[in-house]
Amino acid sequence: MPTSGRPKKLIVAIDGPAGSGKSSTAKALAKRLKIPYIDTGAMYRAVTLQAMRDGVPFTDKKKLAAIAKKARIELKGSDPEKQRVFLDGKEITKAIRFPELTKNVFHVAQLPLVRKEMVKKQRLMGKRGGAVMEGRDIGTVVFPKADLKLYFEATPEIRARRRYKELLRDGIRVDFKTVMKDIQGRDATDFHRKNSPLRRAEDAVLMDTSSLTIEETVDKILAIIRSNSLDGFKLGKRDRR
Ligand code: DC
Repeated sequence: MPTSGRPKKLIVAIDGPAGSGKSSTAKALAKRLKIPYIDTGAMYRAVTLQAMRDGVPFTDKKKLAAIAKKARIELKGSDPEKQRVFLDGKEITKAIRFPELTKNVFHVAQLPLVRKEMVKKQRLMGKRGGAVMEGRDIGTVVFPKADLKLYFEATPEIRARRRYKELLRDGIRVDFKTVMKDIQGRDATDFHRKNSPLRRAEDAVLMDTSSLTIEETVDKILAIIRSNSLDGFKLGKRDRR
């Protein structure tokens, strides 16, 4: 492991089910570490959006794989909290969050050819400047040799409550029961699909976020990074407390 010379491009892999606190934590952590935040879920959502716009049936694996290959997905903005998502140069930040689309992403995310294309793009993005990368297969498939792997967990009720608040905050009107059903449905597809199902990598640190705030979760992770002196990675002054 390099301990001197050029600074290392740290890769932190975060996996876990919907609503487990991955996104908020990953954004805050990326900000503290001053490295890019990469939301891989947004990438599967972008492919789904293109398929829906083109009227491609979710059974047409070839066309979906072609969309995934061709899609130029960009995550822009130096502030992770304000990151914007672009598809072929057009902004799709809001369009990929609608419940109608959310319901359909699993069709696309279960296809091996689509995943292959996404993984390729994600590896390129991560290698460019390091990353806090979140998703379902980051520690198991995309970056199995990440500097730090984390697996997030929280009870389904708590996850649904968080997702419900997020949607309301984003101006999307839904009722809690629908969100709860959606979380359960997404767990079923995430955990039980044939290709790259969600699972904890053996060497991933388990983070039960049920009773932790985002700040507390971030502090725990920074403590792990510090105590492992992850490859000489330089934490900012504030992080060396
Ligand atoms: O994290 P999210 O809710 O935005 O993810 C959207 C969908 O994409 C969800 O169905 C899980 C899937 N996904 C995946 O299969 N692999 C990833 N690395 C990220 C997301």
